[in-house]
Amino acid sequence: MSKLRTQVGIIGGGPAGLTLAHLLHLQGIESIVLERHSREYVETRVRAGVLEQGTVDILCGSGVGERLKREGLEHQGVELRFDGRGHRIDFQELVGKSITVYAQQEVVKDLILARLGYKAPTYFEAGATRIEDYDANPKIHFRWSDEDHEIACDFIAGCDGFHGICRPAVPSEQLQIHERHYPFAWLGILAQVAPASHELIYTYHQRGFSLLSMRSPEISRLYLQCAPDEDIEKWSDERIWDELRTRMAKREGFVLKDGPIMQKGLTPMRSFVASPMQFGKLFLLGDAAHIVPPTGAKGLNLAVADVRVLTRGLVEFYKRGNREALEQYTERCLRRVWKCERFSSWMTSMLHRFPQEDSFSHHIHVAELDYVTSSRAASTALAENYVGLPFDTPELF
Ligand code: FAD
Ligand code: PHB
Repeated sequence: MSKLRTQVGIIGGGPAGLTLAHLLHLQGIESIVLERHSREYVETRVRAGVLEQGTVDILCGSGVGERLKREGLEHQGVELRFDGRGHRIDFQELVGKSITVYAQQEVVKDLILARLGYKAPTYFEAGATRIEDYDANPKIHFRWSDEDHEIACDFIAGCDGFHGICRPAVPSEQLQIHERHYPFAWLGILAQVAPASHELIYTYHQRGFSLLSMRSPEISRLYLQCAPDEDIEKWSDERIWDELRTRMAKREGFVLKDGPIMQKGLTPMRSFVASPMQFGKLFLLGDAAHIVPPTGAKGLNLAVADVRVLTRGLVEFYKRGNREALEQYTERCLRRVWKCERFSSWMTSMLHRFPQEDSFSHHIHVAELDYVTSSRAASTALAENYVGLPFDTPELF
């Protein structure tokens, strides 16, 4: 068994853990990153695609945005489609900002490359098994290369996602959990075909929600609302394309070409917030602390927002011996988290069909969408949230 020592022990090599490690490195703060999966696995795991301007600014400002600037697709609006008609929400015109479509696994690749470039300690296939004494002298136990190891650190950053070990390590009486389950899921595909639109299309249809997104000018990413326990085997490629065409149809016609499906998966829909997000010297970040349903495209962006708050707190602590910002971690993060939870759950309710909806509910959905797309005030509110609310802490760079 080896005994290691660092300033910040980071559990999880997803967007939260890797961004935190990178920003700390730039500030001269040491960390060790533990990731239980292989490098190849995390670099190919298909998940988020939409980056807020603030997330792009952090990645570019910290020197890992070269490929993102080159390959990311900047979008100045999205379409909401219902009742067979499309309505564009113009972000640039309404709030003067845009979003960037760039796959989460590409962000992860860029961050890993940077970290390995400056030879900072990063262990793959290294699952943390236990954390200890996080109030006073934190330690992380992990298994790597068939052996047990231990890290002593000043702080533990729990960036280990929703199913990690950090949140469950806190006694349940110290945690408040606020959650909501939705009676549907998303069936997502990645297909080798040019996107049928150059901007995202969110569709409300009586048969359920659908979403057209993309990864590149040659690769489409599409989602369909389905049952939470849907058997994916029952969805042949042909059935998926037919259903997408039905839900995305427009009165004046809409051509959705199909192509080979490279990947298929189910995404459960959940809203979840754990509070507080700090326990002594243990901090929870990203999906370890909160989950949003993906309709608002907020999960990865919220993870990066937590990183921003914790980095500022750790810099204040190490450079000026000031603990105040660390002590405000939960409060600062949760103000943004709850606004994103609100937005994500609102988008989800507006755009999905709930079981047993009657014709009254259907008309309410359509009226709400009609209002949102025809009122400048309502469109502005949607745009302001979608592109990312302003930060209430100063810029890091
Ligand atoms: P994760 O990405 O889950 O990373 C946690 C890491 O910790 C994992 O790599 C895991 O292997 C590792 N780990 C877990 N336990 C241990 C352990 N014991 N030891 C060591 N390592 C451990 N968000 C958006 O912002 N925009 C979108 O468009 C969007 N679309 C989405 C679409 C889908 C289909 C899905 C599923 C999610 C989407 N999200 C989106 C959400 C986004 O993917 C997540 O919010 C994001 O991955 C959170 O990052 P994270 O680093 O907190 O957690
Ligand atoms: C995606 O491209 O994967 C994506 C886009 C928008 C969302 C969710 C996912 O709201």
